[in-house]
Amino acid sequence: MPTFAAEKLSYMIQNVAVIGAGTMGNGIAHVFAQNGFKVKLIDVNAAQLEKAIQNISKNFDRQISKGTTSEEQKKTALANIQTQNELHAVKECQLVVEAATENLELKLKIFRQLSELAQESTILATNTSSLPITKIAAVTNRPEMVIGMHFMNPVPVMKLVEIINGYATKKEVTNTIVELSKSLGKIPCVVNDYPGFIANRILMPMINEAIYSLYEGVAGVEEIDLVMKLGMAHPMGPLQLADFIGLDVCHSILNVLHQGFGNPKYAPCPLLVNMVSAGRLGVKSGEGFYSYAVTGNKDLVVSERFRR
Ligand SMILES: NC(=O)c1ccc[n+]([C@@H]2O[C@H](COP(=O)([O-])OP(=O)(O)OC[C@H]3O[C@@H](n4cnc5c(N)ncnc54)[C@H](O)[C@@H]3O)[C@@H](O)[C@H]2O)c1
Repeated sequence: MPTFAAEKLSYMIQNVAVIGAGTMGNGIAHVFAQNGFKVKLIDVNAAQLEKAIQNISKNFDRQISKGTTSEEQKKTALANIQTQNELHAVKECQLVVEAATENLELKLKIFRQLSELAQESTILATNTSSLPITKIAAVTNRPEMVIGMHFMNPVPVMKLVEIINGYATKKEVTNTIVELSKSLGKIPCVVNDYPGFIANRILMPMINEAIYSLYEGVAGVEEIDLVMKLGMAHPMGPLQLADFIGLDVCHSILNVLHQGFGNPKYAPCPLLVNMVSAGRLGVKSGEGFYSYAVTGNKDLVVSERFRR
């Protein structure tokens, strides 16, 4: 049974459905299961579900080697997770956290289905990084019970949950998600639904400005990252971070900001646009501002394209 004080919540939550078993979905399932919740991890792709369980198991092993959890806790947590291919499994859940691919049409389709399938009292949360919560809520039969629950990557490690109120989200739902996030050992922060919320509204223009600085020849890749690491105490520079997030993801979030505010200051830098068109997406494609092709090399290697 969950260990948090259920009386603090307006809604009793014991069973959680996580939709999408990718990077974020497996992390979200991990933290809920570790904290005693029963989790239905749902993905249309069976291979992805298998991979997710392997990743969760490996991530638990890492925690065990650091002494932050035990074999016994790993076993209990894994037993709390059931994998499913069908959305029907949400029927038994009091909370759904959607973490499927970042695509508005796909999310609208999923939330229309959730409207039909989930019990009336079930809270519907989305982990979207940038899509409008209010628009997603509007296609459901319960916009007041739809909310953004934006976990950060990697979920078991990162403390923040950015909680985003849609236009119609009711206070009891926000309070429940705040308390629930605390019960997962996270630090919740409530914001309102405007493009990029807070995290990406501030992060993405910084990354875009770093790319502009490179594009305009103000400095090279290493210099730009070094200034931000040593000068601002950022754990990694903005160009390395962009590679880690995925340049296609940065590009699409900047487009959301650009269209959402109608302000040219958010337009993605032409260099970013070119790199995405060329398939240089960062870590996931093997090359971005840095090259990830050389394995076993601990030092970052600047991509040949940007060597000076
Ligand atoms: N990756 C990050 O750093 C990060 C950080 C915060 C938030 N997010 C958000 O989390 C969400 C998921 O991102 P990700 O990086 O985990 O993506 P991902 O591509 O790793 O995983 C997405 C998963 O969704 C599954 N999926 C697609 N359609 C589905 C459907 N109809 N039903 C069930 N599953 C379906 C896919 O098979 C895939 O396994 C996105 O909304 C993204 O914006 C990502």
